[in-house]
Amino acid sequence: MKFSAFALTFAAMSAGVNAFSINNRAASVAAVRNMALKSAAVDVDTKAALAQAANEARGLAMDSIAAAHSGHMGLPLGAAEIGATLYGGQMQYNAKHPDWMNRDRFILSAGHGSMFIYSWLNLAGYDLPMDEVKNFRQHHSMTPGHPEFPNSEHNTPGIECTTGPLGQGVANAVGFAASEKMAAAKYNTEDHTIFDHHIFALAGDGCFQEGVSAEAAAFAAHEKLDNLVILYDANEVTLDKMAEYTQSEDILKRYEAYGWEVYDIDGHDLDAVNEAISSAKASNNGKPKFIKCNTIIGKGMEETEGTNAAHGEAGVPYVDNAKKNIGLPVDEKWYVSEGTRDFFADVQKANDDKYAEWQKTYDAWAEANPEMAKELTDAIEDNVMSAEDMCKAIPATEAGAEATRVSGNAAIQEISKLVPNYISGSADLHGSCRNYINDGGNFGAGFDKTYAGKNLYFGIREHAMGSILNGFAYHGIFKVSGSTFAVFVDYFRPTIRVAALAELNRVSYILTHDSIGVGEDGPTHQPVETVSGLRVFPNLNVWRPSDAEETVAAMISSVTHKEGPTALVFSRQNMDQNDAMDYMERREGALKGAYIAKKETEDLDLIIMATGSEVQHALKAAADLPGARVVSMPCMELYEAQSDEYKESVMPSSCTKRIAMEAGVSGLWYKYASKVVGVDRFGFSAPGDIVMTELGMTPENLSEQIKSMN
Ligand SMILES: *[C@@H]1O[C@H](CO)[C@@H](O)[C@H](O)[C@H]1NC(C)=O
Repeated sequence: MKFSAFALTFAAMSAGVNAFSINNRAASVAAVRNMALKSAAVDVDTKAALAQAANEARGLAMDSIAAAHSGHMGLPLGAAEIGATLYGGQMQYNAKHPDWMNRDRFILSAGHGSMFIYSWLNLAGYDLPMDEVKNFRQHHSMTPGHPEFPNSEHNTPGIECTTGPLGQGVANAVGFAASEKMAAAKYNTEDHTIFDHHIFALAGDGCFQEGVSAEAAAFAAHEKLDNLVILYDANEVTLDKMAEYTQSEDILKRYEAYGWEVYDIDGHDLDAVNEAISSAKASNNGKPKFIKCNTIIGKGMEETEGTNAAHGEAGVPYVDNAKKNIGLPVDEKWYVSEGTRDFFADVQKANDDKYAEWQKTYDAWAEANPEMAKELTDAIEDNVMSAEDMCKAIPATEAGAEATRVSGNAAIQEISKLVPNYISGSADLHGSCRNYINDGGNFGAGFDKTYAGKNLYFGIREHAMGSILNGFAYHGIFKVSGSTFAVFVDYFRPTIRVAALAELNRVSYILTHDSIGVGEDGPTHQPVETVSGLRVFPNLNVWRPSDAEETVAAMISSVTHKEGPTALVFSRQNMDQNDAMDYMERREGALKGAYIAKKETEDLDLIIMATGSEVQHALKAAADLPGARVVSMPCMELYEAQSDEYKESVMPSSCTKRIAMEAGVSGLWYKYASKVVGVDRFGFSAPGDIVMTELGMTPENLSEQIKSMN
């Protein structure tokens, strides 16, 4: 639909058609809903206030983007009526209590339009002062280029989610919605409802062109997440060109086919937006809601509106003219009228009342259910037993030769007992990755699933899984892990990056079949670069444990580490236990990232480092070398975080003869070793032990390589 079609549409609307559509069926659905909800229409005064606020939000976006000479005007100008409707009454929030557990969540999936959310947070009375709005995109401001979930760099109240990589916000929202369903199922009682909030996300064409949103949308409909409302800012524009240049599918029909309830409205018509959102919230029919809001990108700026030129900051030269057009003072920047401030003061009063009412319900609930209340508080505050106490609480493993994925299965049962808010999902590989929580039940709708279930079935949708895990973490109640084969990390790597950036310590990954030891499935399934590829992320701990006790430590670390997510990399094949060493020493050593797994019996003259399945080879090779020390290094990142003193005690700098062994690419190991026995090529299809032997992953080859060192 081109600009002229909008003109037609508006003509049709003024002729009394309240909602319009490019497809008749959706139009009739929307029309029916509009009739049913006539009473929800905003009154004349409120509507005028919302319209004024929308224009002032446009002004804030224009001024901040002009000041920064950077940013994206198209969305904040084009979606202003949506923002006014959400923050002006439709969303349940309390700006003075931004951490209210039953608040509705708003996710700006189209994160480049960040001035949208900063304007509305300021207007709504969140602790985001106008000076910060003026400081848009500057160093140390609360208004970074794309929204950032509060972390050690930023703390902007009201930002629920780090967004920007397109599509992920939609998939994150699905995770939020799943988490809300789980919280409601777990904690609401017959007498008290403490969780009944909605998840809103605003997304654009870029979000729906990216595949991750499609994976997540299918999951959302399948699991009947009807608490989710996606607002599609349908402005027919992408960055380079008009959207029709690259897009001809009917996105509304696509979502309808997934099983969503769809709406098709004029995104600038405050009544239409209001009624669609009211209807979406009211309908508990098992369908997530998709509201196509037809908008004009950059609305208000004649020179660029409705075209791809409006997307970025190209409109800066036209700001004065645009302000004049929409009735804002030209000589006053960051203008907010008293009327708008008064309006939002009233909204705050109404929100205070809602909050107080909820608080009463919560207090009664907590009094009637003290144990659950304690569990929920601990879950939200992330109060977990210390790693030290967990080590004591989990019995010794007594494993024989065993794959670490099997050790992981035993460990996850223990963790699940100690951490009640721990849940674990899989991209259709629970059986292989062994991360199923026994007696945990299955999450979702239909079949044997309930929303209180601890095992999530993501289907073969790794990218969505990664984003949904992040959504759970942002939602702030559960700790969640997701599993797949290590080699498929690349299917959800973008989500790991954001989890690390946002410091989501509630997220962990269970990645099995960790090397060429996979064997017969061949090189497509044999990760050689994956483990090192994960180690390069800041804030991500990557574990590759060598036996059952190190696996216990790895699992403990994944639920107790506070600074970021954790990747747990487990083997498919069996490996020996380092039984010569006490189990608690192995756990404690592993929790330091690296430790002495076998001490030299004479003067130290060689350090052999290894991880995972290669530690057993290191121990064998060292058996004939009295001056050799074996260092097991299951987690480089935790080792790096230790004191210099500890590091020196494990790997004395006086000992420069150092060799490392790992069944993966060798590059990173040269930081610690002068020689590396690794696998710098893709593997091949054959039984795992043959692939290992052929590619030199044997104690014999290690011994030979040691001999060749001076
Ligand atoms: C032994 O390891 C070295 C170093 O990784 C490698 O170059 C060599 O090919 C391996 N030997 C065998 C027999 O695979």
